Amino acid sequence: MNILLLGSGGREHAIAWKIAQSPKVDKLFIAPGNAGTAQAGTNVYIKADDFQAIKDFVLANNVNMVVVGPEDPLVKGVYDFFKNDASLAGIPVIGPSKAGAQLEGSKDFAKAFMMRHNIPTARYKSITAENIAEGYAFLESLQAPYVLKADGLAAGKGVLILETLEEAKKELGDMLNGMFGDASKTVVIEEFLTGIECSVFVMTDGTNYKVLPVAKDYKRIGEGNTGLNTGGMGAVSPVPFANDAYMAKVEEQIIRPTIEGLKAEGIDYKGFIFLGLINENDPKVIEYNCRMGDPETEVVMLRIQSDLVDLLEGVAEGDLDKRTLTIDPRAAVTVMLVSGGYPEAYEKEKIIYGLDDITSDNILFHAGTISASGRILTNGGRVIAVSSYGANKEEALAKSFAGAKKILFDKKYFRSDIGFDL
Ligand code: AMP
Ligand code: GLY
Repeated sequence: MNILLLGSGGREHAIAWKIAQSPKVDKLFIAPGNAGTAQAGTNVYIKADDFQAIKDFVLANNVNMVVVGPEDPLVKGVYDFFKNDASLAGIPVIGPSKAGAQLEGSKDFAKAFMMRHNIPTARYKSITAENIAEGYAFLESLQAPYVLKADGLAAGKGVLILETLEEAKKELGDMLNGMFGDASKTVVIEEFLTGIECSVFVMTDGTNYKVLPVAKDYKRIGEGNTGLNTGGMGAVSPVPFANDAYMAKVEEQIIRPTIEGLKAEGIDYKGFIFLGLINENDPKVIEYNCRMGDPETEVVMLRIQSDLVDLLEGVAEGDLDKRTLTIDPRAAVTVMLVSGGYPEAYEKEKIIYGLDDITSDNILFHAGTISASGRILTNGGRVIAVSSYGANKEEALAKSFAGAKKILFDKKYFRSDIGFDL
């Protein structure tokens, strides 16, 4: 079969790497991809949200399945676009419908969904300019720190955590006044939760589900989890506290009610659900995402032993219960190399050296790279994820840090303490 994968980051390179190993695949296309995905398949210069161009390409190239990496095309309705077009009938899109993608696209929707289905999460109130007084009153009823979330997608920047009530009230006003454009016309105010976070990934055909390896990502730019939030600076899997007892709670209290809730509400969801959880004893949902995580995918794909394409067919065909998911018992980790300055302003088009010195100890997933006249250049804040296996996370991390040092580009930075807190 022929598969088209949408997206261009490290997540997509990791998914492409895994898809390319499947005996079921003839051709793999990635739109638009990066210099790394070009090693796993063929890049096609189509933006991941240009649905008409995607349609034309799919029809012209006998694509049999579309796998969606990032949230943007899902929130914009790529699943529905395919479903409602007779010429695309029968070509499955792996990813939820627009309604299902609201679990990520609208924090207000996600919170109300969790309330309807009794899914543990932080107490909250949704506020608009019309009821800002209620927002102030709710903030006054909470203890510091205060959590404010833009309702809509804000490129990962829409969550503010504020130490004082005064700051929280001021930022609430600024958010409602368009700090994040339309995304913050509604703001979700939440109770602050404590504990360790982890990322749980579920694959579902709408009825059946499989739980993929649990991972933990490291979002802050600085060592010891300090400084600004980034897209993610590294990840490890497994997560020691996510043992059988913990996962039994997650399945019973969170995963099953989520899938049953979607079904009961008539929402089409055939794809990945990413649960951002907090608290190692008493898991609660911090956020839902309608896609895989990045950089978590750069470790999760290493730990899936079974044929990913067979599982994706199960998602599309509604018989995921008949497919097998085998998990590699080894640890997998990834260390992200980023451009100096990221997550604020940074320069691009730096030549990347040392890629040929990487041994089989490392699996490189390109996040922001581009090929130009025979060289590979940086093309983003996150540049390359250096993934490794190990008997335990320490062994895997030693390999990734060694690989991270061999790759060179001007102002390269990485965190050398990934996994430090587990
Ligand atoms: P989100 O974009 O919803 O994942 O939020 C970004 C980060 O903010 C999360 O990974 C948490 O570290 C933190 N966060 C979000 N909501 C809360 C909360 N209610 N309590 C504590 N931390 C939170
Ligand atoms: N690593 C977090 C995310 O993908 O949103």
